[in-house]
Amino acid sequence: MGRLDALFICSALLLVLAACLEARGASRPGRPDWRFGFTEPVIRMPTEGEEAVDEEGQGVGTRWAVLVAGSSGYGNYRHQADVCHAYQILKKGGLKEENIVVFMYDDIATHQLNPRPGVIINHPKGDDVYAGVPKDYTGKNVTAANLYAVLLGDKSAVKGGSGKVVSSKPNDRIFLYYSDHGGPGVLGMPNMPFLYAMDFINVLKKKHAAKGYKEMIIYVEACESGSVFEGIMPKDLDIYVTTASNAQESSFGTYCPGMEPPPPPEYITCLGDLYSIAWMEDSESHNLKKETIKQQYQSVKQRTSNFNNYNAGSHVMEYGNQSIKDERLYLYQGFDPATVNFPPNRVPPKYTGIVNQRDADLHFLWQMYKKTENNSEKKKEIMGQISSTMRHRIHLDGSIEMIGALLFGPEKSSSVLNAAREPGLTLVDDWKCLKSMVRVFETHCGSLTQYGMKHMRAFANICNSRVTRESMEEACASSCAGDGGLWHPSNLGYSA
Ligand SMILES: *[C@@H]1O[C@H](CO)[C@@H](O)[C@H](O)[C@H]1NC(C)=O
Ligand SMILES: *[C@@H]1O[C@H](CO)[C@@H](O)[C@H](O)[C@H]1NC(C)=O
Ligand SMILES: *[C@@H]1O[C@H](CO)[C@@H](O)[C@H](O)[C@H]1NC(C)=O
Repeated sequence: MGRLDALFICSALLLVLAACLEARGASRPGRPDWRFGFTEPVIRMPTEGEEAVDEEGQGVGTRWAVLVAGSSGYGNYRHQADVCHAYQILKKGGLKEENIVVFMYDDIATHQLNPRPGVIINHPKGDDVYAGVPKDYTGKNVTAANLYAVLLGDKSAVKGGSGKVVSSKPNDRIFLYYSDHGGPGVLGMPNMPFLYAMDFINVLKKKHAAKGYKEMIIYVEACESGSVFEGIMPKDLDIYVTTASNAQESSFGTYCPGMEPPPPPEYITCLGDLYSIAWMEDSESHNLKKETIKQQYQSVKQRTSNFNNYNAGSHVMEYGNQSIKDERLYLYQGFDPATVNFPPNRVPPKYTGIVNQRDADLHFLWQMYKKTENNSEKKKEIMGQISSTMRHRIHLDGSIEMIGALLFGPEKSSSVLNAAREPGLTLVDDWKCLKSMVRVFETHCGSLTQYGMKHMRAFANICNSRVTRESMEEACASSCAGDGGLWHPSNLGYSA
């Protein structure tokens, strides 16, 4: 493909993208419905009895929490904003700072593009959520390996950071919340490699075998987040999981420029993610000594589907032991005395404009482009960044297509690469194979990047079809000819 052709395609794609993004945000009915402005009647759930709630401390061990923002960069503002917000909720709920471990890159509050230096917000009218958030694992210390060590309470395995770990006891409860990009079988991390589903599940099994907790709840926001648990999350680990999306769909950023409701005009990036703000705004507006985990799941599911509008939302999924969800939320998230008179449940706000996680970086660059002075050097630079991003996307998509054609023949290629297994089945039979295929690909074709995570299913299917490493090497070498360039893994690290 010639350079001019490529540029032409990029510009065309950009225009389409811009049109899509604007249409999505603007054409939706419904007015913004701010956090505490609900006027709907209180809905009483049948499970809400008058029974006495456990007194604090009675049969309740220590509450622990692990909060993880898996991305970096101002275009991913929302993931760190989500995690900071979660910290504030837990802190207000009475969890102690020593029991909350925070992973965040921490490049947002002081970012030159941040219109409110030192402040992070997670709602268009929201207050600062950054103040007081502990800097346990920041910058290069935010890694999957550190997350595993922290969960296992293994201080000696932690590299860098505050050294805070979850040294929980058999009677304790753990709340784990993660927000970032993902792909089939993986969750992103700001430093390579990605988190691979089977490694993560093995950590949970180990923690369970070590009697490291009584029960655990895991909330995950990411594209294809269901695939991290589908078919491999055991039911007997005393863990209940919900994910923002099923194994085959995106999750969504929200409070984005040009959408309803928009962030304050000086923000050119999304402030939150749909599933994440759904659970947090739900927690903030209820009495968590009365609300059950199940009630929260139901209201989050409603809101994350954008009220059964799955073109503009995703399917919240559940995994693990479902008996746990009859418990009250305060056992994990604590209880803020100021909420004592809040109802156990109420109807969540209406439709919220959204952008696909994977397009959110382009949405951000596009907002920046529009706001930059015409005919300036800066504007050219941003356009350069946009077209380089687009070109790498096209390169990744094209390479995968080519590799598939070489391995399976052009007719069968796309049906093999895109085949999705039935719900309840694991993405890939051999997780080691998946990692090895990813490395071979990146060596020849360049880093997958957060966008390329979406191709994990293709690598999984290459493994499931028993393609040998040698054939994969050959196909990647022919398709890419070391075409990594700027995007070579020697610059960005291998994602496996
Ligand atoms: C990583 O952790 C080390 C050890 O605590 C610390 O000195 C360093 O500043 C951390 N790096 C970043 C980028 O936060
Ligand atoms: C699920 O959790 C309940 C309540 O804690 C427990 O009684 C049950 O044994 C668990 N199920 C499995 C399969 O472990
Ligand atoms: C750039 O020019 C266009 C078309 O004249 C105008 O609509 C837009 O507001 C200008 N942008 C800036 C940031 O000045």
